[in-house]
Amino acid sequence: MSFEHLSKTDPEVMSFIGDELTRQRNSIELIASENFVSLSVMEAVGSPLTNKYAEGLPGKRYYGGCWAVDEVENLARERVKKLFGAGFANVQPHSGAQANYAAISAFANPGDTIMGMALDNGGHLTHGSPANFSGKLYKVVSYGLDPETERIDFDDVEEKVKKNKPVLIIAGASAYPRIIDFERFAQIAHDNGAALMVDMAHIAGLVATGRHPSPIPCSDVVTSTTHKTLRGPRGGIILSNDPDIAKRINSAVFPGSQGGPLEHVIAGKAVAFGEALEPEFADYTDRILVNAKAIGRGLESRGLRLVTGGTDNHLLLVDLTPAGEVTGRDAELALDEVGMTVNKNTIPGEKRSPFVASGIRVGSAAATTRGFSEQECERIGELIGDVVLHVGDEAIKDRTHAEVCELLSAHPLYPELG
Ligand SMILES: Cc1ncc(COP(=O)(O)O)c(C=O)c1O
Repeated sequence: MSFEHLSKTDPEVMSFIGDELTRQRNSIELIASENFVSLSVMEAVGSPLTNKYAEGLPGKRYYGGCWAVDEVENLARERVKKLFGAGFANVQPHSGAQANYAAISAFANPGDTIMGMALDNGGHLTHGSPANFSGKLYKVVSYGLDPETERIDFDDVEEKVKKNKPVLIIAGASAYPRIIDFERFAQIAHDNGAALMVDMAHIAGLVATGRHPSPIPCSDVVTSTTHKTLRGPRGGIILSNDPDIAKRINSAVFPGSQGGPLEHVIAGKAVAFGEALEPEFADYTDRILVNAKAIGRGLESRGLRLVTGGTDNHLLLVDLTPAGEVTGRDAELALDEVGMTVNKNTIPGEKRSPFVASGIRVGSAAATTRGFSEQECERIGELIGDVVLHVGDEAIKDRTHAEVCELLSAHPLYPELG
């Protein structure tokens, strides 16, 4: 990718793209939902496939001239089915939220009861937040965490399912650092006449390589984003093993909730699934796990508390209470200033608003792609601790920024892009 044309025809847009590339290069990316795609994925997403309308499915389109994109979409479907051991895949959802919209609407009619993890306990907006379609169209009962263990409270889940008889239970989370017991969810759902949808957006890369138990064998439908630990382009997918559910999903995506699929992004998904099928991807996911634990050790060495006491996956939820009055927002801003990007996050039992929050969420997937080692990740955890425990201390800020710059220069990002 040379940006040869764009830089001449539209220097204004080019300059903003340049700014964003510089920002990505000059900070340690620790947002748990982000990653860096390969240049091959980027080229596919920037390809002429963006010009093609292809409403419908391969072989059954509403437009002519679809033979090439049919091949691409079939390849993406075949690769993702192999990757996750699923019988069916729809690779058209434009995003994780779109995938969830389609999947939920394939199981629930407006007004039906659905269950999902509460947003302030680590769930996602699309799992029943009143601000989202999921909370507006459906009657929502939320489950949460055990206040002692900070892990999913299955007794709470079961009790609420028996009482409220939801048609659909959603498992999966945006800020939960532990293994999720999908079998237990499936048992509760199926014993009580509900379907189980698993949203594995965050952990998809780990599921693909067996580093997190797969939800595919026990759930009715599985949704995911493709851009987090799976390291593909921004987008969504829906998987299932049941042919009847597959039919409902296909029509819930199109014409139910989307028009023409983004075939250029689907090509990027195909490339990313191909990469994830390679043995190197399993090594990558091993390093994600090792690095997340290492960041956790660094944070704990500075006295910060990890929600649940640690992590089994790519993310850590950090309780900033030991840092006194420092809020999640303060920490996010202070870390930004020294070249480390995280997001503020609510913690279990949160007393502040989500715009302020008492925690931060830290992920290892992007930093691992960039090449940071276990030792460097432990140091990153220590540096985060130093900054958040001394917000406003200019000497610590300067010293940390200098060390962050050194770490970054040892692992250049996209050097090929010039
Ligand atoms: C669990 C989960 N599901 C769905 C989504 C939504 O994905 P998107 O932003 O692509 O709509 C997210 C996004 O962070 C997520 O964490």
